[in-house]
Amino acid sequence: EQINKGKYKHYMQKEIHEQPESLTTTMRGKLLRGGSCKAKTVLLGGLKDHLKTIRRSRRIVFIGCGTSYNAALAARPILEELSGVPVTMEIASDLLDRQGPIYREDTAVFVSQSGETADTLLALGYTLENGALCVGITNTVGSVIARNTHCGVHINAGCEIGVASTKAYTSQIVVMAMLALAIGGDTISKQERREAIIDGLFDLPNKIREVLKLDQEMKDLAKLLIAEQSLLVFGRGYNYATALEGALKVKEVALMHSEGILAGEMKHGPLALVDENLPIVVIATRDACFSKQQSVIQQLRARKGHLIVMCAKGDAASVCPGGGCRVIEVPQVEDCLQPVVNIVPCQLLAYHLTVLRGYNVDQPRNLAKSMTTQ
Ligand code: G6P
Repeated sequence: EQINKGKYKHYMQKEIHEQPESLTTTMRGKLLRGGSCKAKTVLLGGLKDHLKTIRRSRRIVFIGCGTSYNAALAARPILEELSGVPVTMEIASDLLDRQGPIYREDTAVFVSQSGETADTLLALGYTLENGALCVGITNTVGSVIARNTHCGVHINAGCEIGVASTKAYTSQIVVMAMLALAIGGDTISKQERREAIIDGLFDLPNKIREVLKLDQEMKDLAKLLIAEQSLLVFGRGYNYATALEGALKVKEVALMHSEGILAGEMKHGPLALVDENLPIVVIATRDACFSKQQSVIQQLRARKGHLIVMCAKGDAASVCPGGGCRVIEVPQVEDCLQPVVNIVPCQLLAYHLTVLRGYNVDQPRNLAKSMTTQ
């Protein structure tokens, strides 16, 4: 039943639309609220014997490829905030190319939908040899990465068929947010924040239902962008990952050049590309970077940039005073969970662009769901 397209035309479309359910399944049994003391807790059974070691690590290293790497990048800030442990990022092939240093005191977290990606698997072998604690976050029970890591969490997003990963991405972020809660201490100073995140996680499937209503709006936007050569996506903070992942979706399925750009780096190069033709998506939802994004938008507008701004509901006038940009309004959630909501319109845009341009959505040319060769 899981591999049936049901009422959808493509697997990618189905997988985008089933995210309220896949996220619910991901959290089931792991996120607990209620009981007599109304405690809100996270229970990651697969990690319970290792949490102390992880907390005492010298650093946490995320290792992955493609969308899985981007999901880890989205979770990095909350993991740093709640755990206080430095978190570094490694693209699996690059770690291998550099033979980068890995220490016994490190915790290495391997993120992989399939659990079979060759680069990630080789990086796991290398990391095991160097004596680090290896944690697997996969969507495939019994996969090599699930078997060869010391411990791990199954994201339980259900079978993903479309080559471009969608629902696994959002479930991976949610699992890593839960990982941050599990590793983070339960100090009084962080209690309010922890509870807000847990409440936010419980409410996330509803917010995804809400953001999916943008489907037609994203189709209309796709119609406008159909003949473009290129699309830039600017993000920062929690949503730097959204910029990278949004651009990855567009390039891998719609076969359009697209680049995710860290907005803080705009003036160090990308600004030279800006003119009235090149379409630019700017992610400017509410978080600690909001005012910086407002100023990025101002600078882009001063250069007549063709802007599409993603903001929280009701924020259109704050992000684009006087009008003149196309605005995508999304529901606002706890800042660290916002990437889960924000990626959905990008997934829908990539999907519609692909269909309108007449390309194969579920099997893009030259790509494979699981890259089992180097
Ligand atoms: C391939 C797929 C991508 C995926 C990447 C990592 O390139 O086409 O969609 O993100 O591998 O796959 P993994 O299974 O390790 O998450």
